[in-house]
This record gives sequence, structure tokens and C-alpha cells, in this order.
Amino acid sequence: VPATDPVPLVSVDGRGARPLATGIGEVDRVLAGGLVPGSVTLLYGEPGVGKSTLLLQVLASVAETGARALLVSAEESAAQVRARAERLGEIPPDLFVVATADAGDAEAAVGAIEPALVVVDSVQTLSDPGAGSAPGAVSQVRSCAERLARLARARGPAVVLVGHVTKDGDLAGPRMLEHLVDTVLAFEGDRHHTLRLLRAVKHRFGTTGEVGLFEMADRGVRDIADPGPLLLGDRRAEVPGSAVAAIVEGRRSLVVEIQALVCAGAGGARRTAVGVDARRLATVAAVLESRAGISLAGLELFASVAGGLRANEPAADLPLALALASATTGLALPDDMVSLGEVGLAGEVRQVTGIDRRLAEAGRLGFRRALVPTSAPTGPADLELVRVASVAEAFELAVGEVRDRRHPVPPVRGGGTMPLCPTTASS
Ligand SMILES: Nc1ncnc2c1ncn2[C@@H]1O[C@H](COP(=O)(O)OP(=O)(O)OP(=O)(O)O)[C@@H](O)[C@H]1O
Ligand SMILES: [Mg+2]
Repeated sequence: VPATDPVPLVSVDGRGARPLATGIGEVDRVLAGGLVPGSVTLLYGEPGVGKSTLLLQVLASVAETGARALLVSAEESAAQVRARAERLGEIPPDLFVVATADAGDAEAAVGAIEPALVVVDSVQTLSDPGAGSAPGAVSQVRSCAERLARLARARGPAVVLVGHVTKDGDLAGPRMLEHLVDTVLAFEGDRHHTLRLLRAVKHRFGTTGEVGLFEMADRGVRDIADPGPLLLGDRRAEVPGSAVAAIVEGRRSLVVEIQALVCAGAGGARRTAVGVDARRLATVAAVLESRAGISLAGLELFASVAGGLRANEPAADLPLALALASATTGLALPDDMVSLGEVGLAGEVRQVTGIDRRLAEAGRLGFRRALVPTSAPTGPADLELVRVASVAEAFELAVGEVRDRRHPVPPVRGGGTMPLCPTTASS
């Protein structure tokens, strides 16, 4: 039967669409099983985040199962690729490399080797002399991607294209490939930190809810089954300005430390946010000032999320507010307490999504108390829920016992003088 003739769907053999497991747990989790034969995946990330490293590991892992895997290296020579591969471990005999920037050469290599997996690193450096524009031009990138997509569909290998993005997230090139490919993966992380996130932005063969977590080490990326110790490992107990938040990434919850620092520095009323949205920081600070009587006027504020993660979601408002209030007053929050909730402009603490997941993760990591919105459902048995209606109430409840132990009582409500630097008030 010619392939263009319609056939009853029930008679179609579905086995060809089964995903090829890469053997790297977190990658397979994000892809809902693995890379689908004949499909095209775009993996993008900032320079140096580890795209080449991750994909070389994927290639080696697939080649280890006896399937052939081919790297089309348009940026690095075969010798450079070999050096990287040696650093990452054993080099399996079924791992092939072709160093070329020509799309035609890449096609010929696929034809010669018939691999199950082809990685092209990167699609922006590949060129298609037939496309009639300069390499790197948008039309070139698109033309190369189209050729590789046709090749994947015709010959059946899973194809992965690497795409570069710039620091502000916009990518001249790859983004316009999103509709052309079956799957789009974002590889994220701060290159100065070891944590990496792999996210499915688009996936035709499964959900996009999963997030893969990796640790970047000298010997490549490693799956992180339990991110808790990595994210909270350096946290110091009972330090003013530190609060614990439970954020949600995909279907997972990650418990992270939000830190704040308040100083009467030369910067005046400047606000510096790292991993926290700057507008959110400004809003939460304004709410603290007007609704909780915490005077921040003229002070320089810093807020950051430890570990290079981002906590740009409403649920992180309350811990951010508590970290700021704690830094301002010098009163440390209890060590075993997490908090979650969106902070409204009236100072009210509002419901957030995914509360069960957040509380479950906090409970699993050993936290014993959680400040939550009044409407929150019940949490895990070993986690005491403290329901709070407002930021002011939350802070009172959080530091109440600390304040009772200490004299004189630092003023919190109604403004007044305040210790400017956390160290002046901490014991
Ligand atoms: N020889 C080495 N020893 C230890 N670490 C290395 C070595 N070479 C590279 N790395 C680390 O691995 C990280 C990831 O590099 P990789 O080349 O995989 O990133 P990439 O996303 O492909 O970058 P690019 O956008 O430049 O292609 C680098 O930031 C670097 O810190
Ligand atoms: Mg690279």
C-alpha cells in the first residue's frame, strides 16, 4: 500500500512511535519515556549552561544500549569532542561523531550510519549552502532545521537540535523553530551554580509538566533524585533575613531559602533582586511598610534565592515578606518553619496553587510548621499548619517566641526606630 493511501487507524502499527529511553533518568522523566523515533527535539539554553555536556551523555548512554548514536558537531572538532567524552566516562563503540557545519554532510553521515539518535550541536552553526543566505541567518537556521526534520521523518532517527539563547531569554533563531519541531526542551540554570533544570516547553508525545533536575559536576551532569539537601545544605539556622519557601517547578515542589538584607547603604532606597522578580520585591516591601508597620523608608533592600533558582511565583510572596521583615527587625524566623502564600496589596495572605505538593515536600524535608493562607486545606500529619490572614499576623506568629526571649523588644509595628543592619540586633 503506498504510504499516501488512507488506512484504517486500527491497522496502523504503533510500535514505531514508542519512545527510545535515553537511560538518563531525569531526561526520560521530562520526555515521558524518551526520545520518539522520527521526531525532532530542540534543546535550548544559555551559553555554557551544559547543553553539549548533557547531550554527549545522552548519546553515550543510548550508544551503550547497542543502538548507534551520532553527534554532528558544528562547533567543536572531533578531537575536542573526544576530550570532552573522556572526561565524562567510557566512550562506547557505537558513539559516532562527524565534525561539519554543512547540512548536506550531516545528512550523508546519517545515511551512512543509520543511527537511532542524531544530535546536531548547534543548529545555528549549521549551514545549508542551498539556502542562499549567510550561515546563522534566520532563513539558514530554518532551512537546516527543515532538512533535519525531513530526514528524521524519512529515516526514523530521533533528532535533537541544540539552540543557543541569549541571557535575556530571547533567541534569534531557535524560538522560530518551535512550531517546526515536536518537542522543545529548555536547559536552565545559573552557570555559577551547580543546579540545572530541564523543562519541556512543548512536547507532542507527553505532558509538559515534568521538570528534570541535574547537578553539574566536573564529570558531567548527574541526576538529582532528592534536591532538598543541595538546595538547603548551606542554610544557617536562626539567621535574621532567612525564610524558607516551597516553590513549584512542573509537578515538583522545591523547598528553597529566600534571603533578604536591609541596609542604610549609600544606595539609598535601591532594591536588588536575584532570583526574585524585582517588581514583586518592590510590591512586598511597600505592603510591609503600609500594612505591617515595618519601616523601610530610605533603606536599601536585597533579596535573593539561594542556589541559583528562581522563585518568581505568588506563593513566594509571604516568605519574601517574612525574610524582609526579619532582616529589618533582626528577629530570626524559626528554623523549622516554611511559609507560603500570595501577599495582596491590603496585606492579606491569599491562597496559592499546588499547596498539597508544597506542604508534602516541606514535611518530607523535616519542616514542622507552615504558615499558610486561612483557606489552605489540611497538610501532611507531621506538619503543623498555622493559618494566617495577613502578613503582619504571620510575622507576629513567626517571631513571637523569639521576641519573648529577648529584651528590650524591638519595635515592629507602627514604625519608629529600627536596627538598620541585621547584625546589630542578632544575639
Ligand atoms: N575541561 C573541563 N573541566 C571541567 N569543567 C568543564 C570543562 N569544560 C567545560 N566544563 C564545564 O562544563 C560547563 C558546560 O559546558 P558545555 O560546553 O556543555 O555548555 P554548552 O551549553 O554546550 O555551552 P555553549 O553554549 O558554549 O556550547 C561549562 O560551563 C564548564 O564550566
Ligand atoms: Mg556547546
